[in-house]
Amino acid sequence: MAKAMLGLLVHLHAALLFVPEPAGGASLTISNSRDVVVDGLRSVSSELFHVVVLQSRGVTVRRVTVDAPADSPNTDGIHVHKSTDVAVYDAAIPTGDDCVSVGPGNSNLWIERVACGPGHGISIGSLGKQQGMAVEAVENVTVKTTWFTGTTNGLRIKTWGSSKRGYVRGVTFADATMSAVANPIIIDQHYCPDGGCAAGQSSGIKITGVEYAGVRGSSSTPVAVSFDCSRTNPCSGITLRDVKLTYRQKSLKLADAASSCRYAQGTASGLVVPPSCL
Ligand SMILES: *[C@@H]1O[C@H](CO)[C@@H](O)[C@H](O)[C@H]1NC(C)=O
Repeated sequence: MAKAMLGLLVHLHAALLFVPEPAGGASLTISNSRDVVVDGLRSVSSELFHVVVLQSRGVTVRRVTVDAPADSPNTDGIHVHKSTDVAVYDAAIPTGDDCVSVGPGNSNLWIERVACGPGHGISIGSLGKQQGMAVEAVENVTVKTTWFTGTTNGLRIKTWGSSKRGYVRGVTFADATMSAVANPIIIDQHYCPDGGCAAGQSSGIKITGVEYAGVRGSSSTPVAVSFDCSRTNPCSGITLRDVKLTYRQKSLKLADAASSCRYAQGTASGLVVPPSCL
């Protein structure tokens, strides 16, 4: 792997501790810190995640650009974990994995003006992979003004099919533009990438209060909106407002897209295309 190149300007407003990331290989990890601004960082071909914010409070990451091949695994652009009051502004993230990923234990996260693609899009989760008693929660997340080009997902929430308990609540996805995105809007509560999950296990993570407002553009698959929620903890309070997604076929011909709902409850208002299945 090419060595990470950092064109880095870090303002230190308070104590900043660099603790090695357990997984290793991230370009930059902000860990156990408060009141940090990362401004104007370019991370090239990180071995793993590019920027990690871990167990921190009051971190602003702005004007970060990432450069990584579409086929590089586990190279999430910005990963936020167990942190509060984190903001990400003005990022451009072509990579091989999630553009921005929001792990468990996060609250009050603001993400604005982020361009993703190629890669896997912006993801809350995955949650529920680790077993154990601790509840996994994500609360109060705003994702505003984003662009997705050729990504596998746009706005995604994913939890493993496992009995692990927890919740995701208070999420706003506003103003997103999709261009040939495989799954522009998706909640997947049966996430299980390498098999090995108990078949039919329903997720113990409860998803409530998720709003999609102003999402437009094209899907590269026929199902543009998919809410595949937990049988035992159905999604509730999902809102769709002003959504217009079209299926762009390989031939570039446009066709109607569809929505798919399982164990999802909510409302739709304004123009919603494909028609809501909530
Ligand atoms: C939600 O998070 C934002 C920052 O992203 C913050 O300004 C706001 O006060 C938070 N809301 C609550 C209810 O904590």
